Amino acid sequence: MKKRIVTIVGARPQFVKAATLSRLFQNSSILEEVLIHTGQHHDSNMSDIFFQELNIPKPSYFLDIQGGNHGKMTGRMLEAIEEVLLKEKPDAVLVYGDTNSTLAGSLAASKLHVPVIHIEAGLRSFNRSMPEEINRVLTDHVSDILLCPTKTAVSNLQNEGITKGVYHVGDVMYDATLFAIDSLEKRLDISEKFKWLPNDFSLLTVHRADSTDSIESFQKIMRFVHDFAKNNKTEIIFPVHPRTQKLIKNASYEFPKSIHSIDILSYFETHFLLRKAKHVLTDSGGLQKEAYFHRVPCVTLRSETEWVETIDAGWNRLWTEPYYREQKEITDYGSGNSAEKIIQLI
Ligand code: UD1
Repeated sequence: MKKRIVTIVGARPQFVKAATLSRLFQNSSILEEVLIHTGQHHDSNMSDIFFQELNIPKPSYFLDIQGGNHGKMTGRMLEAIEEVLLKEKPDAVLVYGDTNSTLAGSLAASKLHVPVIHIEAGLRSFNRSMPEEINRVLTDHVSDILLCPTKTAVSNLQNEGITKGVYHVGDVMYDATLFAIDSLEKRLDISEKFKWLPNDFSLLTVHRADSTDSIESFQKIMRFVHDFAKNNKTEIIFPVHPRTQKLIKNASYEFPKSIHSIDILSYFETHFLLRKAKHVLTDSGGLQKEAYFHRVPCVTLRSETEWVETIDAGWNRLWTEPYYREQKEITDYGSGNSAEKIIQLI
């Protein structure tokens, strides 16, 4: 009988990461995957489009839980996931990253004594006011197999006394990027859709709670971006996340001339723009690395990052720092076979 792994996803970056492993699960003779989608991201351009583009199988369970405060969202997920786990009796539960879906999944599993596998373990921003930092720390402390994308992540865990079941496997987002670059060759519709793009543009994303919980924080970022655009003679393309969209609407905010807001992008569209962008400005974690994968310099619109090697290697800088360090290559993220390594370990 095959070993049953329940995978829990809910938010955009998790769909991308899960796609790399789902392909391998489908070909495995010893493992079977049961997919739970919590519903955290539910709009079709935040969810369905990722499943379609990345050929992710339809989830066996869609819990339809979203919105509300963190406690309510996480609590409702915890209850619903527990019910599924009791029914499916999995051999392990697989969670990705640092969202509320990650925490709910890892907590539900560990309370039922089901081993937890955490992909993207060990990352730390050391900023406990970020909901993601709480989710990461708690998930790591109930996990049995901790799969780290970087060596820094391994030592972060060591510093918290976690050494058992810890492996450095590289970054599945690099595997996903290689897949996207390959797939883009066949997507002429995307180049057609974006033929209006200016020659010199930079890609902006802003969605973190810290950046969007108040209009003042958001305006501060927009002022920085506008100055950046002027100083670098670049135009800014800004696909707007639904959270940010709400803020802009409620505050009747109007963008400065240099910033062009557009609809949220699909995964392949994001890589299409990344390939052409002169700079990336972002408060997202994933995009900092994706910028590096395309060798585009990044400015992180936060006062710290968990992806410290992008800063050390001179491809990323915090917006509070004026200069980049000397550029070099990053070896930590692996060579595009992290998903295979993970399947072997499981
Ligand atoms: C979540 C993760 C964050 C991750 C991000 C990726 C947590 C705490 N945060 O942030 O770590 O970087 O996903 O995108 O889990 N909304 C919609 N439709 C959607 C999705 C969201 O309208 O399909 C709106 C809702 O108003 C929702 C708000 O956006 O309340 C925020 O969504 P939520 O999932 O709570 O957090 P994100 O900001 O997306």
